[in-house]
Amino acid sequence: MVRRTLLSLARSGRAKQLVTTMPISSGIVSRFVAGETTAAACQTTGTLVDSGLAVSLDRLGEDIRDEAQAEATVGAYIGLLDELAVAGLTPPAEVSVKLSAVGQSLPGDGERLALEGARRICQAARNAGTTVTLDMEDHTTTDSTLSVVHELRQDFPETGAVLQAYLRRTESDCRELAVAGSRVRLCKGAYDEPASVAFPGKADVDKSYVRCLKILMSGEGYPMVATHDPRLVEIAGTLAQQEGRAPGDFEYQMLFGIRPQEQQRLATAGHLVRVYVPYGQEWYGYLMRRLAERPANIAFFARSLVSRS
Ligand code: FDA
Repeated sequence: MVRRTLLSLARSGRAKQLVTTMPISSGIVSRFVAGETTAAACQTTGTLVDSGLAVSLDRLGEDIRDEAQAEATVGAYIGLLDELAVAGLTPPAEVSVKLSAVGQSLPGDGERLALEGARRICQAARNAGTTVTLDMEDHTTTDSTLSVVHELRQDFPETGAVLQAYLRRTESDCRELAVAGSRVRLCKGAYDEPASVAFPGKADVDKSYVRCLKILMSGEGYPMVATHDPRLVEIAGTLAQQEGRAPGDFEYQMLFGIRPQEQQRLATAGHLVRVYVPYGQEWYGYLMRRLAERPANIAFFARSLVSRS
């Protein structure tokens, strides 16, 4: 119930207006978001890389309204990749891109616009010596996003895809994508989806995650295990061992600000661990999804709102 409300607030303009009067330095925002500028993002990336972690940077800004904003997003990613390369932070740092931020949901030719924008980001990433992973958004975009991934892989086979274990279709998508050279990030899924397309119960989502993991680990691609769930982290390790995958033949991924000690523990044990680092001014929708995942965050959030200056 609370989760549903927060996820619907993620789409509310009025709630956004209220919440975004909070400064980025508020505890709850800075816990999950690296900052509003490229410089702040690079600084956080440097700190994480120095501590032995890899990074995937997400420039926040889903739901853009016109082509000019889509173009600005593409330019910002290209600028970011240049700065990461100059700072010597590639290849450990790559980027994550939401197709909605580069035009996918614009009426008319949105998908083509997003494909062309993503292609330019992939080229900039390759020039910088690193890779791109395309985030996955709500289920109405899944087919379009997978078709863009397919197109991009013709020229940039290193492009990563994201699959969400809460969707009923995902086992079948895992089978399609568990092929040589294919990088697949498996997460549980963060949007408010109808039961017709997604498992409504946590236990069923977790079981689906394990079935999908088995397919990816036994396949020929490169699994990216994106979860903070201790049980799933352990199961992934066991499956990797059973399939003869050494650390580096798959990786763990977690979000900036969530279970940082576990991130370090896995890295110290020799695993490749990538931290997903969001940055930028449009942090509202991202923050709401993180709050929805964990009711304990809400009290912290309320205190930040009340104490804002
Ligand atoms: P679960 O929600 O069951 O949490 C397990 C444990 O992790 C909790 O008990 C708690 O300890 C900790 N935890 C989890 N969330 C927390 C939070 N917000 N605050 C504090 N502690 C928390 N989703 C999507 O739909 N599309 C995408 O492209 C991506 N991309 C993505 C990349 C990466 C690297 C990660 C790690 C996750 C995503 N996600 C995503 C989000 C994902 O779908 C999911 O919503 C979150 O990862 C939370 O699910 P867990 O697997 O961590 O399990």
